Amino acid sequence: MTPVIEAEVEQKLERPALPKADPCTVVIFGASGDLTRRKLIPALYDLCGVGCMSACFQVVGTGRTHMTDAQFRDAMKASAITSKDVREFNEETWKRFAPRLRYFVGDPAKIGFYAELRSFLEQMQREGSSANVLFYVSTPASFAGEIISGLQSAQLNQREGGWSRIILEKPFGRDLESARALNDAVLKVFDEKNIYRIDHYLGKETVQNILVFRFANSIFEPVWNRNYVEYVEITAAETLGVERRASFYEETGALRDMVANHLLQLVALTAMEPPVAFDADSVREQKVQVFRSIRPMTVEEVAANTVRGQYGPGRIGGVEVPGYRQEPGVNPESNTETFAAVRLQVENWRWAGVPFYLRTGKRLADNVTEIKVHFKRTPQALFAGTGVRSFGPNSVSLRIQPDEGISVSFGAKRPGTYMSTVPVLAKFSYADAFGGNTPVAYETLILDAMRGDATLFTRRDEVEAEWKIITPIEEAWAQLPSPQFPNYTAGSEGPELAGNLLKASGHRWMLMLKKEAANAD
Ligand SMILES: NC(=O)c1ccc[n+]([C@@H]2O[C@H](COP(=O)([O-])OP(=O)(O)OC[C@H]3O[C@@H](n4cnc5c(N)ncnc54)[C@H](OP(=O)(O)O)[C@@H]3O)[C@@H](O)[C@H]2O)c1
Repeated sequence: MTPVIEAEVEQKLERPALPKADPCTVVIFGASGDLTRRKLIPALYDLCGVGCMSACFQVVGTGRTHMTDAQFRDAMKASAITSKDVREFNEETWKRFAPRLRYFVGDPAKIGFYAELRSFLEQMQREGSSANVLFYVSTPASFAGEIISGLQSAQLNQREGGWSRIILEKPFGRDLESARALNDAVLKVFDEKNIYRIDHYLGKETVQNILVFRFANSIFEPVWNRNYVEYVEITAAETLGVERRASFYEETGALRDMVANHLLQLVALTAMEPPVAFDADSVREQKVQVFRSIRPMTVEEVAANTVRGQYGPGRIGGVEVPGYRQEPGVNPESNTETFAAVRLQVENWRWAGVPFYLRTGKRLADNVTEIKVHFKRTPQALFAGTGVRSFGPNSVSLRIQPDEGISVSFGAKRPGTYMSTVPVLAKFSYADAFGGNTPVAYETLILDAMRGDATLFTRRDEVEAEWKIITPIEEAWAQLPSPQFPNYTAGSEGPELAGNLLKASGHRWMLMLKKEAANAD
């Protein structure tokens, strides 16, 4: 077992109170859906509970499903009670929150809907709600374009005496062309500063901490480059299957669902140059430079640098689980990938020659999202021949979830008269240092959108630059022979072929399951 050195916060500080949101009404399209129930309402409830909302804050859920205000409140309460995101459900807080929830029945595909919605909002305003409106598009993403033009038709994109902003969920398009078309459509109706393209990974505390770790400490940045880094691996693995989202997943697959946004964002934060300031444009400018440094691959390069996988039946946590093709709602001959691994090169001064390996998948051995930066070996094997047990080169692990934190591995001398070394880990755990009650991603992001801070949202050029990397891979996969699916067992470390991406360079993936073994790598 690897000895561990715990890192602690030097000063125990009270967590600062969250800032206040601007007064506003949040209008959710698709409010009868999964995201509203599981993420949006719990986040809004928590923000209300900790006192971030103004006295006139209101939520209007909309959808075709018929519900009264009371039924909507009951349904939302039932999900808030069971939500893992809610810090602590409390009847008193709910009683203060519930009257702020309204429900407006209507079909956003019908043009008359928007004029009716406008009248509804105007009536609310006469009764004391704010002129500011934040629209949250939580319908299937393909419907966003229609909602945007509907909002324009009723001039809901402009508010007299207030602002009008829009949050767009991922996926933002399904390729470069559709992302451009959606950007064109939304930019005709809203200014860029009022568009919030969400990638909820950016709302996670530990993802934001990557910037602090890199740019607020002088000890890591000097070695954060091709001279010292051998390779970078980024894993986002989950044990869950497609759950109830088969129809969405069949159309999307692992590359579009995870790599095109979350994993590329992690690459950008790991690889970017320091921004001149911590504001929306400075940070996003540097991230987009990273994407521009990743050259789109040819078909041959895709064949050599990517691996697709799909899970077959297996066991997870001692329970038998079906293969992807046996999941309800999935085509029994589906060729949708549930696993994707990609080797990328960030071709700039800092990173030339350093491979970035990305992998993500469903029904893998463990739930883990982690960036692991592997450093080069020391130039001289000084302790060779002294009986020193060999240990791997240094690495820094940035753990996004679970057990959020940072660990640095290095070798230390074992006490005694003879020369012997062991690998040790210096470990900083977020939960141990700050307690468990940090805001969840959706809370952070919705609050930022209400305050007009777009730093943690993606900009037009960023989204398009991401698709410029991903679309050639999708297109090449459509041309290349389909792999023999299924090619990994549920509960395993993924397709064996994924290891080949690293093998030729003498690199290997960390193990997902055996955390101790992985840490000692
Ligand atoms: N769920 C998640 O965990 C998750 C995670 C990340 C991102 N997202 C994104 O968040 C958005 C919402 O996700 P979701 O899972 O909540 O979606 P969903 O449950 O499939 O749909 C949300 C609601 O949209 C309405 N809707 C469905 N089809 C529609 C159509 N053709 N026209 C108009 N309205 C339609 C439905 O309400 P009515 O029938 O009442 O109108 C439905 O309840 C999607 O863009 C998704 O990609 C979701």
